[in-house]
Amino acid sequence: MKRLTPADLDPRSVYFLMTSLVVPRPIAWVSTVSSTGKCNLAPYSHFNNCSANPPIVQFVSNGEKDTLRNVKATGEFVVNVVSDHLKQAMRITAANWPSDVDEFKIAGLEQARSSMVAPPRVASARAALECRVRQILPMGEGNMVFGDVLCFHVSPNILVDGRIDSELLQPVGKLAGANYSTVHRVERLDLPVDHAKAVADYGASWGNAASQPPAIA
Ligand SMILES: Cc1cc2nc3c(=O)[nH]c(=O)nc-3n(C[C@H](O)[C@H](O)[C@H](O)COP(=O)(O)O)c2cc1C
Repeated sequence: MKRLTPADLDPRSVYFLMTSLVVPRPIAWVSTVSSTGKCNLAPYSHFNNCSANPPIVQFVSNGEKDTLRNVKATGEFVVNVVSDHLKQAMRITAANWPSDVDEFKIAGLEQARSSMVAPPRVASARAALECRVRQILPMGEGNMVFGDVLCFHVSPNILVDGRIDSELLQPVGKLAGANYSTVHRVERLDLPVDHAKAVADYGASWGNAASQPPAIA
């Protein structure tokens, strides 16, 4: 194992370690409107859930960007989920477009009206979360934007027995550099109910040479 300490590295190397090792990251495709009513759409993979009750999500703007300016000005945003069929459009919206450019138009995306906030949704997204800004917290050189989820939009086409099916949602994840993960195989791992049996099964499977992971120095 190689040991690396941030203090001994240049900031760019630390950035590459952070973004290569905290993976795969879900992508919030954030739509906002500016104080003058211009629509904006951009991907943010420093994104996650903070709380389920009440439902709160968070994304990080590294530096002052249009999305951050817009959420500061209006207090609203929508997180659109990036499914596989949307990855090329998502990529286009990530370019550093001038503030007066509407990335929906640039990427040829149809808008759907949101029900509780002004920013529109990506009509072809299979799921979206309408959010109201709860707090914006400066953190290092980033700004964490926390939002209360006011409502969820879920396509009926991704529901199986009333639950969201990951293979139908086809979420795209962010990996190192320009690499992404897509969902090709979903594996189910139920939590153990019988702990003693779980430990015995685990021991048995790891005692089997065929199930050992390949050794990597
Ligand atoms: C998949 C992906 C994820 C990204 N995640 C982030 C992120 O978490 N934070 C960030 O500041 N920029 C991120 N970016 C870069 C922004 O999308 C990019 O700077 C964009 O131009 C910002 O647009 P805006 O100024 O309209 O907000 C990401 C780009 C891509 C392609």
